[in-house]
Amino acid sequence: MLESAVNSKHLTADFESLDLDMSWAFEGADTRYLTHDIHRYPAKFIPQLARRIILEHSKEGQVIMDPFCGSGTALLEARLVGRNAIGVDLNPVAYYVSKVKTNPINPEKLKDMWDEFSQKLSPLFGFDKVEPYELPKEAMEILKEWIPERQLLDMRRLFSLIIDVEDEEFRNFLLVAFSNIQKNCSWWLMKSVKPTRDFKKKVPDVVPTFIAQVKKMIERNNQLWNSLKDSKTWVKVFMDDTRRLSSFIKERVNLILFSPPYVTSYEYVDVHKLSIIWLEQVGDLRHIKRKFIGSMSSKPKNVKIKSTTAIEIIKKLEKKDKRLSKAVRTYFEDMQISFKEMDKVLEPNGVVAIVIGNTKLKGVEIKNAEVFAEMFMDMGYKLENVIKRPIPSKNIPTVRDPKTGKFTSVKNHHVKVYPHEFILFLRKEE
Ligand SMILES: C[S@@+](CC[C@H](N)C(=O)[O-])C[C@H]1O[C@@H](n2cnc3c(N)ncnc32)[C@H](O)[C@@H]1O
Repeated sequence: MLESAVNSKHLTADFESLDLDMSWAFEGADTRYLTHDIHRYPAKFIPQLARRIILEHSKEGQVIMDPFCGSGTALLEARLVGRNAIGVDLNPVAYYVSKVKTNPINPEKLKDMWDEFSQKLSPLFGFDKVEPYELPKEAMEILKEWIPERQLLDMRRLFSLIIDVEDEEFRNFLLVAFSNIQKNCSWWLMKSVKPTRDFKKKVPDVVPTFIAQVKKMIERNNQLWNSLKDSKTWVKVFMDDTRRLSSFIKERVNLILFSPPYVTSYEYVDVHKLSIIWLEQVGDLRHIKRKFIGSMSSKPKNVKIKSTTAIEIIKKLEKKDKRLSKAVRTYFEDMQISFKEMDKVLEPNGVVAIVIGNTKLKGVEIKNAEVFAEMFMDMGYKLENVIKRPIPSKNIPTVRDPKTGKFTSVKNHHVKVYPHEFILFLRKEE
């Protein structure tokens, strides 16, 4: 099928007609082992999927890169199978989580540091007297809207103590724990993706929630330390913009693997706004938000888009919604700029693996997978393989349709097909 869909530079068919490859489903896989589960993050990779791509397309000792590393799933998997890894993400939450997730602290050292630190959290040792951290006024205004007074006061005290920790690794470890309890210890409606307040929520106390989070993280840290005992691998994480990748990545990489941000789906800054306010100590998040690819507030670049499919999509959308069409155009521009940067750091013969789903906006199919394939092919890459994988979901039980053999939803037998996404494998020419 692939041969007929691809002819050197242009795609002659889209990827929807491919058969689902169930070997990439990883249904029921444990995705929470070791440090994978230390902090929530939207649209995480399934670790087993990242691992399989790494194993099949790189060798031990080589360098893999995830240029949109999010919570660092691929970076951790790389280390676990003897590869080095570089991660890049603009989101400060991603930066801290990825670093802490992939670089375990010596368990004895960690125990000593935690024993000393945790004493300060007890009222007997004067936690109530700790000077609450002073955030900028604008930041405080937002936090007050989201966090009850008592919890906010304790958070400010706790943050003062964390910021004072001298050991950088331990300070980052505590910052990740602190970041992950923001949603628990506020009115944040946990099940909502968009920031929503639930004033009926019984907001738990900060200190015990924090201690429980740290204890879990210590356990996972120690397990990872043992798993990596004899490993000589490293992970480097950059909090920076993938669109300028080659200006700060000096290494050459053998495999690039990522799942990109999507247009108009998550506003990552909104999803993590409480954490970002603390980590960046700012109240006005607009300038941060604008830098995120896929954000509705991202600025157009006016570069020539090298994908006929992308141009068709933009034209079709323009007839339905000008603003949306501009956002999609900006998104494709930003992705193309990122791809050019990735190309500069990838070794000849190296592979780019992209995990990406297609969507529909205002009735127009947004064929991200086809667009990305065309953009890389325009740079001389060979599309070696496309996998169509089912996305197993707890919410949509699925069965095979007895007539077509396709996966369909039990709830809505005749309408919903099994949700799926694509994995593109593109090879750079020698
Ligand atoms: C789908 S998520 C990646 C999730 C990741 N695979 C994981 O397992 O957690 C996409 C990521 O792209 C990041 N991102 C968006 N715009 C960016 C940019 N200009 N430079 C770097 N990262 C960016 C977002 O912060 C987000 O973490």
